[in-house]
Amino acid sequence: MSTPHNNAEKGEIAKSVLLPGDPLRAKFIAENYLSGVKCFNEVRGALGYTGTYKGIPISVMGTGMGCASMGIYSYELIHHYECTSLIRIGSCGAFTEKLKVGDLVMAIGASTDTNYAGQYQLEGGNFSATASFRLLSRAVSEAEKQKAPFMVGNVYCTDVFYRPERIPDVWKRMGILAAEMESFALYCNAAVAGVDALTILTVSDHLVTGQSMTPLEREKSFKDMMVVALETAAA
Ligand code: HPA
Repeated sequence: MSTPHNNAEKGEIAKSVLLPGDPLRAKFIAENYLSGVKCFNEVRGALGYTGTYKGIPISVMGTGMGCASMGIYSYELIHHYECTSLIRIGSCGAFTEKLKVGDLVMAIGASTDTNYAGQYQLEGGNFSATASFRLLSRAVSEAEKQKAPFMVGNVYCTDVFYRPERIPDVWKRMGILAAEMESFALYCNAAVAGVDALTILTVSDHLVTGQSMTPLEREKSFKDMMVVALETAAA
């Protein structure tokens, strides 16, 4: 049986799933990094594929942009398809001069301007959305092995890409590394279900220096992120 947003039958999606925002990136990863690939979804263009990496079953599926879209796809992957390890791979805008375009960011936590956690009716405080330590520690080891430049820290998961004003400096003062748009929903869904999730990002643009990636930097950092994510998923 499938869902309203995913054509896959139960059992067609691996326990470990990589989640790029861009469905065409999912296709690229499947075609270039996985073996024995089968497409399991084309609904709404959210392309999804299952194959193997070094003999381990891995799926990859595009989630679209924002917490609303990530919320739907990751919820179904966890609750309907019984996925237990979800790794978002995407891009971010850096807040700190410590990062250069092309560097990797691993989100140990996701702060947010979204009200995604409002659904849980949490009483008496705010929820701190965090990554799976198991996945994060693997990803760190792998990035060190690849000699890929990276930082681990908190990200700002925002609903707004185009905004009239800059993101307030207070977020930078609170140690936020970068802005992105999906991690908070992924981490909430994983937390509620007790499964593992991690976000790995490449810095695609710099919100302080205004720098953005050259095509060469884009390719190199994308490869770094892919290898780190695949090795983490397959470990
Ligand atoms: N804001 C939010 N998400 C992003 C950005 C940004 O500046 N750059 C890449 N993803």
